Amino acid sequence: MRKDLGAKTLLYPMPVLIIGTYDQNGEADAMNAAWGGIYDYNQVTVSLAGHVTTDNIRKNKAFTISFATKDTVVASDYVGLVSKARENRKLEKAGLHPFKSNKVNAPLFEEYPLTIECKLVSLDGNMGEGGTLVGEIVNVSVDEKILTNDKIDVKKLAPITFDAANNKYIVLGEEIADAFKVGLKLK
Ligand SMILES: Cc1cc2nc3c(=O)[nH]c(=O)nc-3n(C[C@H](O)[C@H](O)[C@H](O)COP(=O)(O)O)c2cc1C
Repeated sequence: MRKDLGAKTLLYPMPVLIIGTYDQNGEADAMNAAWGGIYDYNQVTVSLAGHVTTDNIRKNKAFTISFATKDTVVASDYVGLVSKARENRKLEKAGLHPFKSNKVNAPLFEEYPLTIECKLVSLDGNMGEGGTLVGEIVNVSVDEKILTNDKIDVKKLAPITFDAANNKYIVLGEEIADAFKVGLKLK
């Protein structure tokens, strides 16, 4: 037996992306975005409503995307619950420490070990003054502490995903097979 759940924006896994931007005074902001992913070969995309972050991206034409982790789950949820428009000490309260990217005009955060630095490609559509954000990946910055033999170690990163059906964060980490390889045995 199967059951129809209707038209839902449900995908497994949904990422927990933390978008980093600067406002007109050079103050950093961060927000949580789960409606996002890879676009084309060198781009990322996020369904972005109208936020302080959205205005900042339009202004600076740049942003960063960090991956929320097990260690940062409280801060990562908080930056998705509170707007910098209402809480000027948002980053301080989240315990996040921004520093400027040397590739784009947007902040990285000491607490997030893996970050994609992006230039704005487009932000079109009509999602409450937001739209479909598309950014070109200029660089990927990684804290060496999550590398093993110079490669990203998912167990050390412990990225979290958003379970939209249950409103939960789930941690990733179990490796089960080699991609582009395990299916070959059926070829
Ligand atoms: C789990 C989660 C996922 C979210 N995903 C998105 C998203 O994909 N797009 C979006 O526009 N807002 C999303 N939000 C809401 C923003 O993060 C939130 O409105 C935030 O306060 C905006 O901050 P700002 O106004 O300082 O930019 C999400 C929030 C949470 C908690």
